[in-house]
Amino acid sequence: MAGYPFRRALITGASAGIGEQFAHVLGAAGVPCVVVARRGDRLRELAARYNGFEVLEADLQDDAGIEAVAMRVASTVNPIDLLVNNAGFGTSGPFHETAVERATGQIDLNVRSLVALTHGAVNAFRARDGGHILNVSSVAGFQASPNMAVYAATKSFVTSFTEAVHEENRGHNVKVSALCPGFVSTEFQAVSGVADRLMRTPRILWLKADEVARAGLDGVAKNRAIVVPGWQYATLPVVSKLTPRFVLRRIAGKIV
Ligand SMILES: NC(=O)c1ccc[n+]([C@@H]2O[C@H](COP(=O)([O-])OP(=O)(O)OC[C@H]3O[C@@H](n4cnc5c(N)ncnc54)[C@H](OP(=O)(O)O)[C@@H]3O)[C@@H](O)[C@H]2O)c1
Repeated sequence: MAGYPFRRALITGASAGIGEQFAHVLGAAGVPCVVVARRGDRLRELAARYNGFEVLEADLQDDAGIEAVAMRVASTVNPIDLLVNNAGFGTSGPFHETAVERATGQIDLNVRSLVALTHGAVNAFRARDGGHILNVSSVAGFQASPNMAVYAATKSFVTSFTEAVHEENRGHNVKVSALCPGFVSTEFQAVSGVADRLMRTPRILWLKADEVARAGLDGVAKNRAIVVPGWQYATLPVVSKLTPRFVLRRIAGKIV
């Protein structure tokens, strides 16, 4: 897609990985961004490369952080018309062995903050002349994933929730999409403790973070409800509907 229809974006989790690539793609296209994460030093380095970037340091696992970002989403000063809910993390291993704070922390970040910011953005965009919301989900949400039980469940939530909000906003010029990537090599693997487990995953299944970001931005500009980047994963939504659940969850468990 040549020019993007966005005037200003807010990206959560812009200090690394896919979120950082959203910022680079948009910055290079001349779209100013509000970049959000906890590591302010990284955000400032990123913002210095492009015109009009703003840095918002916030921890989206706590109420104060969510509130600060929600206020920026709603602000009518330099208003944003694209919200990218990208910040997220996972954990791996048997659920009962996962520290409960890490388990519930995923729900706080991947689900709770995303719902709160989407709520603020839909209301702000409906009151203005429209806008775009891109929620970063995962192919992990297409089935239950043993050894990533909470993570996959948060992503099932994100995809289902986003599809519903997409439908509610038909005809209101508020475009809402879920981006569902497969494997992307980022800090995610180290943070979620799956780096070693995924070492034998065929290279062909790995996507590039910048291509994933581009696919998401193109998809939300076109108001696609669900965007699955990469030919490798194109048939997955249909295959996962046709395959018995017990087969899907066993395959997912073997991968992780
Ligand atoms: N990589 C994959 O294979 C893959 C596949 C499918 C979907 N995804 C999804 O893609 C999204 C981005 O993941 P990634 O692969 O780019 O991971 P990443 O490289 O680990 O980046 C995660 C980003 O989230 C931010 N973040 C983490 N905790 C935060 C918190 N409490 N408050 C605010 N920001 C926080 C991090 O910044 P700070 O640490 O500076 O706060 C970082 O910028 C996630 O939603 C993930 O679930 C990833």
